[in-house]
Amino acid sequence: MPRVPRQTICWERQFDAMTRAPQQGTDVAALSEQDAVAELARLAHEIAEHDGLYHQLDAPEISDAEYDALRRRNAEIEARFPHLIRPDSPSERVGAAPETGFAKLRHRVPMLSLDNAMGAEEFGEFCTRARRFLGLPADAPLAWVAEPKIDGLSINLTYERGRFVRGATRGDGTEGEDVTANLRTMDTIPDRLHGHAPALIEIRGEVFMTKADFLKMNEAQAAAGQKVFANPRNAAAGSLRQLDPRITAGRPLSLFAYAQGESSEPVADTHWHYLQRLRDWGFRVNPLSRHLRTEQEAAAFQAEMATERSGLGYDIDGVVYKIDDLRLQARLGFVGRAPRWAIAWKFPAEQAMTVLQEIRIQVGRTGALTPVARLEPVNVGGVLVQNATLHNEDEIARKDVRIGDTVVLQRAGDVIPQIVSIVTERRPKGAKPYEFPTVCPVCGSHAVRVPGEAVRRCTGGLICEAQRVERLIHFVSRPAFDIDGLGEKTIREFYEEGWLHSPADLFRLPAREAAIAEREGWGKVSARNLARAIEARRRISLDRFIYALGIRRIGSTNARLLARHYGSFDNWRREMLAAVGPGSEGRAELGSILGIGPAIAEELADFFGEARNVRLIDELAAELKIEDATRTEMRDSEIAGKTLVFTGSLETMTRPEAKARAEALGAKVTDSVSKKTDLVVVGADAGSKARRAGELGVRTVTEQEWRQLAGFD
Ligand code: IVH
Repeated sequence: MPRVPRQTICWERQFDAMTRAPQQGTDVAALSEQDAVAELARLAHEIAEHDGLYHQLDAPEISDAEYDALRRRNAEIEARFPHLIRPDSPSERVGAAPETGFAKLRHRVPMLSLDNAMGAEEFGEFCTRARRFLGLPADAPLAWVAEPKIDGLSINLTYERGRFVRGATRGDGTEGEDVTANLRTMDTIPDRLHGHAPALIEIRGEVFMTKADFLKMNEAQAAAGQKVFANPRNAAAGSLRQLDPRITAGRPLSLFAYAQGESSEPVADTHWHYLQRLRDWGFRVNPLSRHLRTEQEAAAFQAEMATERSGLGYDIDGVVYKIDDLRLQARLGFVGRAPRWAIAWKFPAEQAMTVLQEIRIQVGRTGALTPVARLEPVNVGGVLVQNATLHNEDEIARKDVRIGDTVVLQRAGDVIPQIVSIVTERRPKGAKPYEFPTVCPVCGSHAVRVPGEAVRRCTGGLICEAQRVERLIHFVSRPAFDIDGLGEKTIREFYEEGWLHSPADLFRLPAREAAIAEREGWGKVSARNLARAIEARRRISLDRFIYALGIRRIGSTNARLLARHYGSFDNWRREMLAAVGPGSEGRAELGSILGIGPAIAEELADFFGEARNVRLIDELAAELKIEDATRTEMRDSEIAGKTLVFTGSLETMTRPEAKARAEALGAKVTDSVSKKTDLVVVGADAGSKARRAGELGVRTVTEQEWRQLAGFD
């Protein structure tokens, strides 16, 4: 087994991938219909993207819990607005990506787990229980086989007449997933057993990844912009659960065989002998496995493995001790889901103490600020550790971590160490509570926290170096500028070349047509096509332009609302600048657009409050011809150009329908009544808005009158 040299690990990408979290929304009960439309669209898109990442690329970017939360939210919104269920809704999608994508396979003999012993005493108790159960005297000799416990993924392999026919993951112990095709790609799983084998036999073992292979694979994943795994176990599991076996084939998986399930004939009388048969059939058995005759030998082996552990090529978290005699194993049987004849004697988690020198804030590709502890280098279980995750702002406050503190570090399976506790007695005098920055360390923009989210995010977007590529990818995406032939890969390629800094640079690419044609994988025709596709998008609708900027919470629906409300780019720009001040009239107008509201108004104000964003927009607009939003269908309608407010409940049409109708006629619909309001449509049970209209002398009409004005009747 390869030994792993002392190593430092490049964390940056790992943290980035791990801290990305889906956007959380407001309470479903408080969503307006407009918001629901926008959010269902976002969820459909996001869930489809995560499905693809998970099923096709084995590069999930969010945890299962986060994914489930997205689906749950989608279902909740759909339950409240059933008429808004989209044809491409994630809840309607069946077949393409079933629950797991794999068929279920029943194990002939259940796959069990192991009880744990946390020290010599508990191991002794296990031995006593076994002897007592067998009716043996307390000092009766017993023999064990000890095997290092690798934290991987157990699998069940079925061989019929010596041929590998099926293989499944453990699953719930009774039923697992059929991963036969993937297991066939592993060269440590023999296709045919050598020598004589029973007509039917189930062989069990652990699929795992070595530390070196894991680090190498993560490096490659990171370089390709793909998900990196937190630890070798996740990497092994993710690699085996691939729908496309070609992906598994490229992953460095290994297997140690160690147990048996069903067998049509007995193959050995002791476990030690069984391990030999496994080797003879062509399996790899952990060479460190040892035959032991006393509890003292077991304790010595445990100590030996604890010392060897850090130098092994793979992670182990303990040693499994199995009573060697298979007849005794059969008599002992099981209790609950664990055998009485085996136990996992676990190692304590690897810990070390060191000093926290600095807290660095790392900005992820989506703007999330992640605190990383910079430590005085220390060896934890053979890995030289200089960084540890601090998760987020609340976690730092909860632990009251201060710079200069002595901290206890722990590596428990995961490659990224955790700070377990602070040794407060060693706290230097004058150490101050840590203040989490409220500006982005990369671009200097505000970093804000949305209520309910643990993550603080940079608002810099396109002006933040850490987020630029991601934002440019959004900029050219289908609902935004939709530039043919300019996908993620090309954006990254040109960014690395230094050609793309801001969105305006995209429109300078046609001038580089000759240079692009010279590049590997390009050529005259594709360079020409790209230049044409870009030129074609110099003319752009105002709503797409707004959406492309990637301002937080401005999805395509909100972008359309803004475009319709403000009409032209110049007007929108002017009004947004007028809305920067929190109490300004511009802000009030913005917040009163139906479907926008004060929270979104604040996002826009934040964005325009940053001079660099305004410069970026102006620079971009200079390259473009931004088309005015179509305001009216019937310019001569009586309400074209008027500002309307609906209040009370309408009986003959829904509020969204009334609003859509009004907008189609060229009216502007707002939420609150002001001096600027031209007309208030008063439905049943109207309250303060109708009163206010009266006070301000604004014209009011009944629902019936509104229907006539709008041409319904
Ligand atoms: S024997 C009934 N042997 O540990 C016996 N398990 O905690 C069941 N494991 O699911 C398993 N190394 O994934 C056995 N040498 C070993 C093992 C081992 C690792 C894992 C296996 C199992 C888990 C139980």
